[in-house]
Amino acid sequence: MERLDKFLVECGVGSRSQVKSILKSGAVTVDGVPQRDGARKVDPGAQEILYAGQVLQGKRRVVAMLHKPAGYVTATEDNQPTVMELLPAQLLRQDVKPVGRLDKETEGLLLFTNDGDLLHRLISPKKEVPKVYYSRHEGQATSEDVQAFADGLILRDATVCRSAKLEPLGAGESLITVCEGKYHQVRRMMASRGMTVLYLKRVQEGSLTLGTLPLGQTRELTQQEIEDLEAECR
Ligand code: URA
Repeated sequence: MERLDKFLVECGVGSRSQVKSILKSGAVTVDGVPQRDGARKVDPGAQEILYAGQVLQGKRRVVAMLHKPAGYVTATEDNQPTVMELLPAQLLRQDVKPVGRLDKETEGLLLFTNDGDLLHRLISPKKEVPKVYYSRHEGQATSEDVQAFADGLILRDATVCRSAKLEPLGAGESLITVCEGKYHQVRRMMASRGMTVLYLKRVQEGSLTLGTLPLGQTRELTQQEIEDLEAECR
């Protein structure tokens, strides 16, 4: 049994204060009876709780993507601006957390979810979900660099990287695909080959791309996108 108002917030019906006025209006019924008291204990498994003609089933699983701008740290709390500040209130209410991290100065696709199991599978190196980065950098990637990435780089601090893909796009521009998420990984991989990264953007995670999502904006994934993502990290 749990409080009705808490349950309604978890369902994404609204914030605490919105839920209070929704309850006041009598728009929520429990087993067919309008229920105005938020403190009332309910059992969502056994009782039918209706709002706006819909049965509420409790905390729903949410997966969303953010087109992260530079200047925000990937953390839930920090003394610098965090990615959480870019999320709309209705996503924050769903208790989502960032999936892995992008450096403060890195832009691009950052996922959020309230499904802890999916989160861990997505960041596990064992699941090998590929992440693709676009980079502008000093120097020019050569075929020797491509081979060194494929063989598995050894970084300056002796960290061993798994095989990765380097695709030179032109002078000072490359795509890099990695299946793990070590600290500053792409920047350090490029630096180990003498190519300092000047700009970095994650453009793809698994089969997901940013599409036309504007910088700084979020959108929830569709059911199909969530299923595809799950299949990729099963
Ligand atoms: N690799 C990096 O160096 N930085 C990121 O933000 C992500 C991958």
